[in-house]
Amino acid sequence: MRKNIYLIGFMGTGKSTVGRLVAQKLGMEFCDTDAMVEEKSGMTISQIFDEMDEDAFRGMETDVLKEITERKNLVVSTGGGIVVTRGNMELMRSAGSLITLMASPEQIFDRIKDDKGRPLLQVANPLDEIKQLIYDRAPFYINTDCIVETTELSPEDAAEEIIRFVE
Ligand code: S3P
Repeated sequence: MRKNIYLIGFMGTGKSTVGRLVAQKLGMEFCDTDAMVEEKSGMTISQIFDEMDEDAFRGMETDVLKEITERKNLVVSTGGGIVVTRGNMELMRSAGSLITLMASPEQIFDRIKDDKGRPLLQVANPLDEIKQLIYDRAPFYINTDCIVETTELSPEDAAEEIIRFVE
């Protein structure tokens, strides 16, 4: 049984697509914190932000992360903001490898501009918001075991880079 591989990074950097490939190639199980929060709450992420608030979402996200950390052999795609909750970086680091996916703000914007399921980017100028949030979270995103820049990388190549690192 391998220790878990946690993929962190901003929305649209490829965590879920790449994570699925890594899991498949290494014979590990894939899981996604956003999908688990939605399943447990019976609500979409947008509904949680609308009907409750971001703090409520962060609490649910951390509960799911704690459950995941009890398990092994998982490739975990995390929500882009999981790093901001105090203790989550340490929790992931204690249970496995911590890998960041990065991409340029312009590329991120291009990948997710038509997706209405990302409540934090439903603002007048999403590209500015992406830049600001990346700036705020950079201290966390750069403090990991390995950083994979996906702006010009196919999901396959990004997955291979991660596998080379963990093997
Ligand atoms: C968020 C990222 C989203 C989701 C929520 C908040 C963030 O996940 O958890 O909308 O704060 O960056 P993805 O990174 O999987 O899109």
